[in-house]
Amino acid sequence: MKITYRPRRLRKSQSIRDLTAETHLTPSELIWPVFVTEGKNITQKINTMPGICRYSPDLLAKKIDEAIELGVTSFALFPAIEENLKTSLAKESHNPSGLLPNTVKMLKDRFPESTIITDVALDPYSSDGHDGIVCDGEILNDETIEILIKMAVTQAQAGADIVAPSDMMDGRVGAIRKALDQEGFTDVGILAYSAKYASAFYGPFRDALQSAPKFGDKKTYQMDYRNSREAIREAQLDIREGADIVMVKPALSYLDIIQTLKKHVNAPVAAYNVSGEYAMIKAAEAAGMLDGTKAMVESLYSIKRAGADMILTYFAVEMAKYLS
Ligand code: PBG
Repeated sequence: MKITYRPRRLRKSQSIRDLTAETHLTPSELIWPVFVTEGKNITQKINTMPGICRYSPDLLAKKIDEAIELGVTSFALFPAIEENLKTSLAKESHNPSGLLPNTVKMLKDRFPESTIITDVALDPYSSDGHDGIVCDGEILNDETIEILIKMAVTQAQAGADIVAPSDMMDGRVGAIRKALDQEGFTDVGILAYSAKYASAFYGPFRDALQSAPKFGDKKTYQMDYRNSREAIREAQLDIREGADIVMVKPALSYLDIIQTLKKHVNAPVAAYNVSGEYAMIKAAEAAGMLDGTKAMVESLYSIKRAGADMILTYFAVEMAKYLS
């Protein structure tokens, strides 16, 4: 056959494929979400997330040390709060000597060069399992923000580099920015969960923190998965209010949203490869249905290809090992 252009020429060998690859990924672009629990020398397996554990702060420090060794230097912290500390007003969320602030202090002490990101939302501390204050079955917006502000300032005081509001209340980014600035934390960044969808893929995470909503769902604050233009509006609002980075969450069913935000907003875009996306690959691998490592690598590259500048993923350490 006379074919002038043969695309297969550029697929002939690993070396040529590497030369012409359009997408690259390094451990420095990965953020490892980690779960911390009270105590010492404690490792608790999370049944729905094979390979992921809740660690007491001392063991978490070891795991983080190993991750840094592999080139992963950014961490998103999630505390598992004891049931008896959960209240309807989530008071523990801004306790300066609570589990999270203490862990942040310890980590910043030991790993000053690392980036510590803390989550701003009430759910791990709420007896209702919602991201905001509940009143007569409704999630109150403005009242919740008063608590989110205290929470963000407490985290900044502990040494957090970036606070990450994941609550989806309206106006919270602006309020948090103002409060941080007033307290002198002008250098603490905001990673806004801007396009966070009400998703079934958060199931294993809620298992990890025992934080599932006690009633109803999160559809009055998290986004409707049928929408994409709304994601642009959310991201633009957050940037106007002072967000430094915007996020799309989940990632794999929302690659179009990642691409859309990358095109429309002039800020770094993060994507959160969430717990359910992790669990699906692990479950399929355990059932002998596919090669888990290959599925991990392919999905992380696809998130990067869609336009993510950084990826939060439970695979961070495994992927960093693969990349090295
Ligand atoms: C809570 C929060 C959630 C996740 C991150 N922060 C769960 C939720 O909104 O219900 C999910 C992360 C994951 O599934 O990996 N504000």
